[in-house]
Amino acid sequence: MALLIGKQSTELLQAQAHVWNHIFNYVNSMSLKCATQLGIPDIIHKHGKPMTVQELVDALHINSAKAQAVYRLMRILTHLGFFVEEKVSEDDSKMGYWLTQASRLLLKDDAASSLPFIKIFLDPLLIKPWHHMSEWFENNDSSAFETAHGRTFWDYGSQEPKLNHLFNEAMACDAQLVSNVVTRDCKQVFEKLKSIVDVGGGTGSLAKAIVDSFPDLQCVVFDLPHVIAGLEGTKNLTYIGGNVFETIPRADALLLKNILHDWSDEDGVKILKKCKEAIPCKENGGKVIIIDMVVGNKKEDHEGIETQLFYDMCMMVFATGRERTEKEWAKLFFDAGFTGYKIVYELGLRSIIEVYP
Ligand SMILES: C[S@@+](CC[C@H](N)C(=O)[O-])C[C@H]1O[C@@H](n2cnc3c(N)ncnc32)[C@H](O)[C@@H]1O
Repeated sequence: MALLIGKQSTELLQAQAHVWNHIFNYVNSMSLKCATQLGIPDIIHKHGKPMTVQELVDALHINSAKAQAVYRLMRILTHLGFFVEEKVSEDDSKMGYWLTQASRLLLKDDAASSLPFIKIFLDPLLIKPWHHMSEWFENNDSSAFETAHGRTFWDYGSQEPKLNHLFNEAMACDAQLVSNVVTRDCKQVFEKLKSIVDVGGGTGSLAKAIVDSFPDLQCVVFDLPHVIAGLEGTKNLTYIGGNVFETIPRADALLLKNILHDWSDEDGVKILKKCKEAIPCKENGGKVIIIDMVVGNKKEDHEGIETQLFYDMCMMVFATGRERTEKEWAKLFFDAGFTGYKIVYELGLRSIIEVYP
């Protein structure tokens, strides 16, 4: 048994371990990125049962001198919950790697895959602004993204097809995952509505799922002209290009998923005022449906809160937005002239909030 050291030294070493853990936090993200670039989740999925390191090495198109490194990559990703070690077969003591719920979200052909999120958020384009964050604190730029790239995120996206494409793909996959949950478990939010506008609805993933579940509902996807360019509508789904700060098409209800968190309070109030102009009064069923985070709603979930705070920092670094606590949301709604709100559902890190005129 090792000899004990004093309390003061123990605390000092724990503090150093804590600092090291946070210095190297990016190792988690980058190891995850590497595994998805190598296609490891898909290879294991295709194999159909737990895969030994040797089987994985054989299936990967890598330099044979790097075979040892595969074990080390899998070890950290197993520690992080992306893979589990299981017996290869009942009568065998050999262990292999198998998928978890998290790595199933990294499969290429899954419409709700998180792969596009890895592609955009871990692209050097979105890593660079973090190196400029302290400089941004001292200058007049709207975001560290602007400091790093000389243009705002939205301007860059409208001028550079690569960012526009990566961003729309990521949003569409998230919308697909959320729409699976919303149309299965949150139907009540859409009942009685005849028309709805998905404001900033991207390429329409969520709207398509909603009209599939509610075929009598007329749905408009409203987004910037370059985002909806070339997209074809259907009998009850229409694409309209425009600007939320100008005019929003009228409907019984407006849906804003991941929109207000992109903007400052000042801009958020402007957008909500435009929303209020586009819906009927409360007595006639008018409402705004927001899907966004309510920071701190996951009090007992340390990882959940940390992820909400990560997202808040992303909104600050990439755009001019923020994630809000319930108190901050309430202030935004009342400042925009709404009379009440209700948090109707918790959707993991996010919530569905109905806001009434
Ligand atoms: C974070 S994305 C959310 C997309 C979609 N609601 C979702 O959750 O998948 C924000 C969306 O707002 C759109 N947007 C940004 N500025 C806008 C503006 N001024 N008018 C209309 N849409 C805008 C973007 O093009 C983008 O599709």
